[in-house]
Amino acid sequence: MTGTDPAERAGRSVLVSGNWKMNENHFEGLRLVQELAAMLRVTGIPEGREVSIHPPFTSLRTVQTAVETDRVPVALGAQTCHHEQRGAFTGEVSAEMLAKLNVAYVLAGHSERRTFCGETDAVVRAKVDAILSQGMRPIVCVGETLDQRRGGEAEERVRRQVVDALSGRSSETIGGLVVAYEPIWAIGTGETASVDDAQQMCAVIRDEIAKLAGPGAAAAVRIQYGGSVTPESAGPLLAADDVDGLLVGGASLDAERFVAIVRAPA
Ligand code: 13P
Repeated sequence: MTGTDPAERAGRSVLVSGNWKMNENHFEGLRLVQELAAMLRVTGIPEGREVSIHPPFTSLRTVQTAVETDRVPVALGAQTCHHEQRGAFTGEVSAEMLAKLNVAYVLAGHSERRTFCGETDAVVRAKVDAILSQGMRPIVCVGETLDQRRGGEAEERVRRQVVDALSGRSSETIGGLVVAYEPIWAIGTGETASVDDAQQMCAVIRDEIAKLAGPGAAAAVRIQYGGSVTPESAGPLLAADDVDGLLVGGASLDAERFVAIVRAPA
C-alpha cells in the first residue's frame, strides 16, 4: 500500500521539522526563532504544510515564549524525553514537563540517541507511550546503517523498528503520529538518499503500518524523510508519493535555508 491515491495523499498535511540537535544556546535560539518569524511573516507557509522546531531543552522556554508572544506559525518540538513521568532520574526531562511548555511534537528514537545514548527499541517504545500519555505527538525515528543497507537488511531493520515502537496501539493512535525515515548514512554526511530510495522506504513503512493497524491508519500516518536535506533536495523529496514531510538537521540552523525548505515547491 502506498499513498499514490491523490485523495489519500491530499488528506495528509506536510510536516517540516527542524531538529536543532545540540546547537543554539537560548540567546542564539531566540535570535533564530526571531529570524524565522520575520521571514515567515513575509513569505507565509504554503497551504497544507506545518512546521515544527526542536530546540535543545535549555532553549525551549525562551523559544516557547517567543513563538507564543509573536504568534509565530510553528509548533514547538523537543528532541527526546525520558520514558518515566517523574522520579530519581538525574539529568532527565519528562514528557509531562514538555507538555507543560506546550510542546506538540517529540522525537523518539533518533539514531544519534540510539547510537550515543544506547536507546534500544524497547526504550523507544516506552518513550512513545510517555509522549502519547501527555497528549503530544511522537515523531518516531527509524533508519538503517550503511552496513545494514549494504548487507541487504535495510528493509527488514526498518520494519522491525516500526513494529517494535508501534505494535499493539489503536489504529487511531497510529494514524495520528509521525514516523521519520532517516537513513543513518545520510545524516550529517551531505549524502541524501535518492528520491527513489526515500520513496521506496517510506512506502515500506506505510505498508508495515497497514499490516499493523489497517489501511485507515496507513493513509493517515505522516512519514518524513531526514538526512542532509537542503533547499535543493527538499522539493523533489516532497513530491514523492509517500514522503509527507522532512526532518531537517543542519539546514534548520539557518533561517533562510530552513524557510526555503519549508516553501520548496513539490
Ligand atoms: P542533517 O540534516 O544535518 O543530515 O540531520 C538529519 C537529522 O538527523 C535530523 O533529525
